[in-house]
Amino acid sequence: MPDLSVNFAGIKSPNPFWLASAPPTNSGYQVMKAFDAGWGGAVWKTLGVPVVNVSSRYGGVNYRDSRLIGLNNIELITDRPLKDNLREIEEVKKRFPDHAVIASLMVESREQWHQIVRDAENAGADGLELNFGCPHGMCERGMGSAVGQEPKVLKTIVGWVMEAAKTPVIVKLTPNISDITEPARAAQEGGGNAVSLINTIQSLVGVDIDNFVPYPVVDGQSTNGGYCGPAVKPIALNMLKNVAQMEDYNLPISGIGGIENWRDAVEFFLLGAGTVQVCTAVMHYGFGIIREMIPGLERYMTEKGFNTIEDMRGKALENVKTWENLNLKYKVVADINKDKCIECQLCYTACEDGAHQAIGLPQNGSRVPFIIEENCVGCNLCSLVCPVEQCITMVRKDDGTERLTWKERTDADNIPTTFNDELAGGIHHWVPEPSAAHEKMDEAKHYRAR
Ligand SMILES: Cc1cc2nc3c(=O)[nH]c(=O)nc-3n(C[C@H](O)[C@H](O)[C@H](O)COP(=O)(O)O)c2cc1C
Ligand code: SF4
Ligand code: SF4
Repeated sequence: MPDLSVNFAGIKSPNPFWLASAPPTNSGYQVMKAFDAGWGGAVWKTLGVPVVNVSSRYGGVNYRDSRLIGLNNIELITDRPLKDNLREIEEVKKRFPDHAVIASLMVESREQWHQIVRDAENAGADGLELNFGCPHGMCERGMGSAVGQEPKVLKTIVGWVMEAAKTPVIVKLTPNISDITEPARAAQEGGGNAVSLINTIQSLVGVDIDNFVPYPVVDGQSTNGGYCGPAVKPIALNMLKNVAQMEDYNLPISGIGGIENWRDAVEFFLLGAGTVQVCTAVMHYGFGIIREMIPGLERYMTEKGFNTIEDMRGKALENVKTWENLNLKYKVVADINKDKCIECQLCYTACEDGAHQAIGLPQNGSRVPFIIEENCVGCNLCSLVCPVEQCITMVRKDDGTERLTWKERTDADNIPTTFNDELAGGIHHWVPEPSAAHEKMDEAKHYRAR
């Protein structure tokens, strides 16, 4: 059986699944329930000078039958008194000495940072997480993402914290920045012990088109919020990869953003995360999701021969290159499995209007489309829109012997440099003449008339 326990920058936890700082970690009651369910750690709802929150607070993005693929919130840090939070941290640590309790912190002045660091550590917190990510409300007051977006300020504040901290310090980064590596670097330069990413993405999830006000509505008005949930996972993974691939960078990374199940978590580990944190999935489905995550991860690790999280950490990083280093000679084309096809012709429409006119419709009464191999550029689109799993697969056509990258072509002075260059990639690809569009329209009218 693999060993799921982790030592993340000195913070020990029985497994790598932590709750992110958010409503599920608002109280000792919730954190204890979560630990009983199986979570390995919890980052407490951000502590600071307590705030006053608004009502309502959340907006959701539904996609077809799926509720809450994205969640937006305009909630601030904890609105509960510091002494209550500290007492409850102490109680949780007494009952769960081997679980990780991390205090998330956000204050303004150097003195306040020193004070709250001492308070959190005296209460028994195993580590601290600095919230430099909140992109609404707190940033208007010069905190949260206002700090995360200014690497120099971030570095200074990390330095203040390190003056007082005795436990490991995790710097939580905001994704609301063009280059995540800059604050990540500043966190290391300031003396931080780890980083976590991502916090929420500044967003406006939708507008009530009858009353002309965006969501969530607060007495007929609204404000921008922070976006999270499954929809943000690709952005989080990319930022994780960017930080994990930095040269001369040695801070452990806690991955956050859209994690719902063990597979999502594995993706974060493979791109360099040492622990993962979850918020929206718990707000949606409750603490019980951990009961599937732990055995799922154990099964995967056993199958792959990984004994520890460290064994698999970063395994996918060596396969993430810059575009110029990809093999231009690799060639795939689509292949339709006729036995699986349900004849919906979504692939035909997608390729015909949105790609490369490489799918044809038979004239013999059958409704199963066919691939015109010589036109197929191997873009994947048809396989992505096909509603039947494994009905359209991409089949390799080159023999694997040749390898040539854009970088090599550039170095060999063998790239297009003029607007009508013969070296252009698409120059010999067949496309229909523009006038053929009318014939297609006539064909469509004919079908409609029948
Ligand atoms: C309602 C709500 C409140 C949050 N409050 C905090 C907070 O107090 N401190 C913090 O660092 N992050 C806070 N977050 C951000 C989460 O910790 C996490 O970074 C983000 O939601 C992405 O993870 P997810 O996709 O699993 O939700 C909050 C998120 C939500 C939805
Ligand atoms: S999208 Fe898939 S199921 Fe639909 S016609 Fe194309 S191959 Fe068949
Ligand atoms: S892979 Fe792209 S180009 Fe090829 S058939 Fe599918 S949609 Fe068309």
